[in-house]
Amino acid sequence: MYYNECMESAKQQTVLLGVTGSIAAYKACELVRLYQRSGFKVKVIMTQRAQELVGAATFRGLTRQPVALDLFDDPRNPINHISLAQEADALVIAPCTANVLNKIANGVADDLLTTTALANEAPLLLAPAMNVAMLKNSITQKSLKALASAGVTIVGPESGYLACGTEDSGRMSSPEDICLATVGMLLRAKSLSGKRILITAGPTREHLDPVRYLSSPSSGKTGFALAQEAVARGADVVLISGPTHLTCPLGVEYVPVTSAEEMLQKASKHFDGVDIAIFSAAVSDFRPAEQHKHKLKKRTTPAPIQENQNSLSFFKSQEQDRIERKQPSLSEIKLVENPDILATLAARRREFQSGKPYIVGFAAETENVLANAQAKLISKDADLIIANDVSDPLIGFASESNRAIFVESLGHESTELMSKQMLAGVILDRIATTLSIKNLT
Ligand code: C5P
Repeated sequence: MYYNECMESAKQQTVLLGVTGSIAAYKACELVRLYQRSGFKVKVIMTQRAQELVGAATFRGLTRQPVALDLFDDPRNPINHISLAQEADALVIAPCTANVLNKIANGVADDLLTTTALANEAPLLLAPAMNVAMLKNSITQKSLKALASAGVTIVGPESGYLACGTEDSGRMSSPEDICLATVGMLLRAKSLSGKRILITAGPTREHLDPVRYLSSPSSGKTGFALAQEAVARGADVVLISGPTHLTCPLGVEYVPVTSAEEMLQKASKHFDGVDIAIFSAAVSDFRPAEQHKHKLKKRTTPAPIQENQNSLSFFKSQEQDRIERKQPSLSEIKLVENPDILATLAARRREFQSGKPYIVGFAAETENVLANAQAKLISKDADLIIANDVSDPLIGFASESNRAIFVESLGHESTELMSKQMLAGVILDRIATTLSIKNLT
């Protein structure tokens, strides 16, 4: 459904095609034709080096549009880079040299194309083309990772015959693949538009006294990555998170909380009316039965007697102090169970006629990962459980990467090891596909 919608809307969409100075620049002519056949309007920006390989007149003829060459080459439009960026539904740079790729990754904007890329808010696709040594260079690899983490679509490069005469990786993907990837990227960019999503993230803190709490090492990265990817797909996102050091992604409604009870209260407020609810928070299952207003004293610290400071009994006995403060002894600190936010709200869904929202839970397990996740799917009444083995240091709580098993009532499927940002994209693509299938049936 989304594919048809996207092909339909391609008719009103503009692809801004950046051509840089790689030998593969001639293939950009074919790419223009493919975009036009798919229904896109195409406008071209060329770097100075690209103009030495293919003439601007070729692209002018193919697109029947002026070709943008320099920051100040349109006297009627002194801020060409901004208007070009605003006009674009997608910015595609194909071929993208190592120079332009590394510049974009680092926010350098020193010509029309890189300045437009920095001003661009539309989905960005890069099709790298370069010599294998340039590709393997750690700086280029770092840039590729940073760009992918920032949500940029990277197509290729592939292995094949390179201009330098060797057979190796660095060859630009085919114009057909780039065109298809552009359609896919636009498809993704709209896949959650009009959907409201609730996401819980991070740990919760269950205070015993003002300076001590029960919590977990959760960094919140997964939930924040989900929020960022959901906004990039056009969703309206509310992110309810326990304490983390992360910055809330732009365009997300942020609701900071501390305890599980507070998280439940806020999630409950936003739950009615959302289309998708993703519970990625690592909620503390227990909290101290009593939250003390003042810091609890350890038993070996003598407490001063305020009213009789000159007397020999300057220090109260430990027991006397504890009793006066109504402070429990360590063995008396009781824990009570926290509400299960996911299960509580999923139970409420049963009262809704709409059957909404689609509910996703997480299962961070240290053993029997699949069996535990399958049990959770049923006991919590979720539609999808994303399970992972947190005993593996590569994919544990505060790590950068994750490998997950998607568990649904119809079966399960494992993913590769990937960054949490990429996994967030894979999760949302899966949810969007499931919802579009549900809408069709
Ligand atoms: O039972 P367990 O904590 O392993 O379940 C994990 C899933 O349930 C996660 O999606 C988590 O966000 C959610 N959860 C919750 N409230 C709790 C405990 C877990 O929403 N009190």
